[in-house]
Amino acid sequence: MRKFTCEQKNTPLLQWFAGCAPSGVREFIRMSNVIVLGAQWGDEGKGKVVDLLAERFDIVARYQGGHNAGHTVFIGERKFVLKLIPSGILRPGVLAVIGNGVVIDLAALIEEMNTLEASGIDVERYLRISNRAHVIFPFHRLIEKMSEARENRIPIGTTSRGIGPCYEDKTGRRGIRIADLFDPESFHALYDTLAEDKEKLAAAFHLEEPIDYAEIRRKHAEYAERIRPLVCDTAALLADSMFRAKRILFEGAQGTMLDVDHGTYPFVTSSSAAAGGASIGTGVPPTRIQGVIGVSKAYITRVGSGPFPTESKDGGGDLLRREGNEFGAVTGRPRRCGWFDVPLLRYTAMVNGFDTLVITKLDVLDQLEKIPVCVRYRLHGSDVTEMPATYRALEAIEPQYEELPGWRTCTRGIARYDDLPDRARAYLNFLEERTGVEVGGISTGPERNETIIRAGSKLERLI
Ligand code: IMP
Repeated sequence: MRKFTCEQKNTPLLQWFAGCAPSGVREFIRMSNVIVLGAQWGDEGKGKVVDLLAERFDIVARYQGGHNAGHTVFIGERKFVLKLIPSGILRPGVLAVIGNGVVIDLAALIEEMNTLEASGIDVERYLRISNRAHVIFPFHRLIEKMSEARENRIPIGTTSRGIGPCYEDKTGRRGIRIADLFDPESFHALYDTLAEDKEKLAAAFHLEEPIDYAEIRRKHAEYAERIRPLVCDTAALLADSMFRAKRILFEGAQGTMLDVDHGTYPFVTSSSAAAGGASIGTGVPPTRIQGVIGVSKAYITRVGSGPFPTESKDGGGDLLRREGNEFGAVTGRPRRCGWFDVPLLRYTAMVNGFDTLVITKLDVLDQLEKIPVCVRYRLHGSDVTEMPATYRALEAIEPQYEELPGWRTCTRGIARYDDLPDRARAYLNFLEERTGVEVGGISTGPERNETIIRAGSKLERLI
């Protein structure tokens, strides 16, 4: 049984970081840490991909977001929806790490821990939580509700989980981190100052819902005791693990186009969902990450408001929603559906440096006679080669399509590339050629074994 420890083996580790490790040590360290993240607006099927790949890694680490994410994993008849805890926890022997870049609603976390424990998963042993992650309090949710409802504000259509206001407090340098909970004196002082701010804000917004600030503080002292054994300096834990040649899989939440910098701002989430966030949100240096795997559906979906150039508002979109069961894992909202978008993928490949793609839900397209794929953007009558920066320009994009013939045969559950119908392979080749990124993996159903990993692909080499 593998043993994980939060202790650092100081001397060799520091030597390594200082670049003066004895010769041979570097070669000993097998550096193949990989990021898996969504290529569009989230819900691409990362949960299944991470769960599948996790058995080849020692650690799965989340680097951003909070319980706004919803990763659905099916194991046999059992369905797991994980919002905060990395889906690697479902693989025996794999350590799940919640990194410093994640924001944590402790009530939601503990509920998730309890559900997993009830399913026989040893959460205490295989989950670690960063002492630098920020805490979401119930008043963050209320502040978000008020600000979303405000007149003249651009309505983002958030998940209403308090994610944005918590990150605002983090960046505003008044947030409360997990480590603060364990120092009662400092926690009380920090909390009371934060609560006073929120009280003033609530009064300014004429909030009618009462907030019991003292009760929230008391409860958080209780929650802290529950998670105490799992909390540590996860950056040090990861560094130590890498030194001992453990492999890390970084699990992105949301998707690149929801990244606060690179996404369809302001219709984004409040964290760095793109690949760069993996380093910031875990403390693992960029030089220790060797690969980036992009996950995309064979079509595209988005929840919430904001630009979506290839959205299909007619029967095509309805068919995708019906066949793909496109309803939010966290909020249950129907997802907006549309066609694969090559310029968008080229953009997210540029921002993330995708080495390879996993295309999910190919089987959802099985019935279609023709499959439109957006190959070019036009804006105000001209071709555009760069992703527009403003949401108004993004909304004005006129996508140009090519239609590919559908295969009209069931691909559900196919696990070998050569067994796919010719036209399905032609569709995948088309995506590969036009995006410039290899399609290394294909998912043909929700189960672990309903997956193709192409022989000789970069994906095969990375995992
Ligand atoms: P927030 O993350 O709750 O602030 O919501 C900001 C935007 O990101 C909204 O459009 C949400 O619908 C979207 N969003 C947040 N988390 C997810 C996710 O896990 N999947 C898809 N969309 C998400």
